[in-house]
Amino acid sequence: MVLDVKKILSLLNEGLEMEHASYIQYLTQAAITKGPYAEGLIARFKEIASDEAQHADIIRQRIVSLGGIPTTKVGEIQVHPNSLKAIQINLKYEKETVEFYRKLLNQIPADKPILYEAIEHILQDSEEHVEELERLSAS
Ligand SMILES: [Fe+2]
Ligand SMILES: [Fe+2]
Repeated sequence: MVLDVKKILSLLNEGLEMEHASYIQYLTQAAITKGPYAEGLIARFKEIASDEAQHADIIRQRIVSLGGIPTTKVGEIQVHPNSLKAIQINLKYEKETVEFYRKLLNQIPADKPILYEAIEHILQDSEEHVEELERLSAS
């Protein structure tokens, strides 16, 4: 398999757009979260937001190393005043993210280990976010 640079750059920028949205989404959600369990949830949303900021930075570096320009676009953001609804929104989003990175990973040839491992790391974090949100949404 040969790396299709143009295609990978376009996918990386699509991922970067999602990471930008994700970061803002979690921080905004943390700011509007209220109720008896607010403290723990706010801390968790902020922690996840910092993972998303790290993902964005990893992707930016990979884009530049492939000769591309990192996008400043921000994907669609959804927040909700109801904490449980917010968790469900984020859970759905994280599941889509996992699917996206899994597909992206399949398009990276074995002779590109830095790129492969970067995406693998982001995929693994996203799977952890899914697990965490599933736990939080369980009644
Ligand atoms: Fe992320
Ligand atoms: Fe995530």
